[in-house]
Amino acid sequence: MSQLVSSGAAPTVTRLPPVARPAAPPGLRKFLSLQDFETSARRHLPRPLFEYIAGGAEDSASLHDNRTAFSEFGFVTRVLRNVSGRSQAVDLFGRRYASPFGIAPMGISALSAYRGDLVQARAAAAEGVPMIMSGSSLIALEEVIAAAPDTWFQAYLPGETARIEALIDRVDAAGVKTLVLTVDTAVLANRENNIRAGFSTPLRPSFRLAWEGLTHPRWTIATFLRTLVTHGMPHFENSYATRGAPILSSRVARDFGAKDHLDWEHLALIRRKWKRTLVVKGIMNHEDARKVRDMGADGLIVSNHGGRQLDGTVSPLRVLPEIVQAVGGDFPVMMDSGIRRGTDVLKALALGAKFVFVGRPFNYAAAVAGEEGVRHAIRILADEIQRDLGLLGLMSISEVTGTQLRDVRRSLLNPFLTPEA
Ligand code: GLV
Repeated sequence: MSQLVSSGAAPTVTRLPPVARPAAPPGLRKFLSLQDFETSARRHLPRPLFEYIAGGAEDSASLHDNRTAFSEFGFVTRVLRNVSGRSQAVDLFGRRYASPFGIAPMGISALSAYRGDLVQARAAAAEGVPMIMSGSSLIALEEVIAAAPDTWFQAYLPGETARIEALIDRVDAAGVKTLVLTVDTAVLANRENNIRAGFSTPLRPSFRLAWEGLTHPRWTIATFLRTLVTHGMPHFENSYATRGAPILSSRVARDFGAKDHLDWEHLALIRRKWKRTLVVKGIMNHEDARKVRDMGADGLIVSNHGGRQLDGTVSPLRVLPEIVQAVGGDFPVMMDSGIRRGTDVLKALALGAKFVFVGRPFNYAAAVAGEEGVRHAIRILADEIQRDLGLLGLMSISEVTGTQLRDVRRSLLNPFLTPEA
């Protein structure tokens, strides 16, 4: 600056490098962070549906801890390291992904967005990241796999051998390559917020629901009625090998199966039967993690189900280091629950995660802006990571380690900061 002022010569203009990505379409430019999609979705979606997606169990203690835990860590940056060629690509299960995050499984995504599971799966494939399709979904998994063959499939299996075998046969025949078994749903969670908001599965026709439809006409016409007219009444298509309950019914009860019977014997059976990549999701304890590894799973996801199961379960971030230590560095430990920023992704990786998953923001992005919206959301998070790596002075994801992190509550105990030191 001083040179420019004192030289008297025409200032040299330093040109910025060309922008790597085309500018976002005008309609998407208002979405600057993942949180912005939630703000729009809250207005766009009928309240029972928004609350189902946004909510946690009981008092939402876990939901809140999932965010608080990230704020308890801060970074120590490095400088002057020429970070111009940095990369956030990650290798996982024999594939290279463009970023160290993917889309977490979310139920009934085709009710919040038109063809929601397909929208998320296509967007993820286009941006080079994985998407996990939920078993509580309203589009047949075969259709999603046909459109995006690398989509992972997440099953909720009951402790019933015949049903386990039938679903695995179906998933196998569909060509799924990565099966995720969610194990933190032994019993249904206490989701009072769903009852308060008028949400249930199936949804029960009522004056209140009709009013929600009338007061959210864009969603009613462009998502709900369009789905009904084009594809008929959505049903739970992938809970078992056969079709489940419709999403709207005054009488039909949904079959949740005997999930409380599921045990390690069933995991052994699943491992014997499923020959491709097997990931176990919902692990919070290091002994369970070791057992999952020893039983031959290919990876695990540390997760408290986005704060939607046992309320009061700590954030996965708090148990991540002990789980990584228990299973050893080579076994892929992934995590989800609470990630909203590139810095959150990097904090999880610094604490030992190999990869992370983000849920709700991509559901909201699909609801308010379809496939382009999800792609835009993926790019927002990827751009944040790319920027954060540069500001941390790092060239690649493999350089992200615990040495760049400090526990902000304990940093005051640092002897260099105490007056006596
Ligand atoms: C489904 O997994 C849910 O948490 O609602």
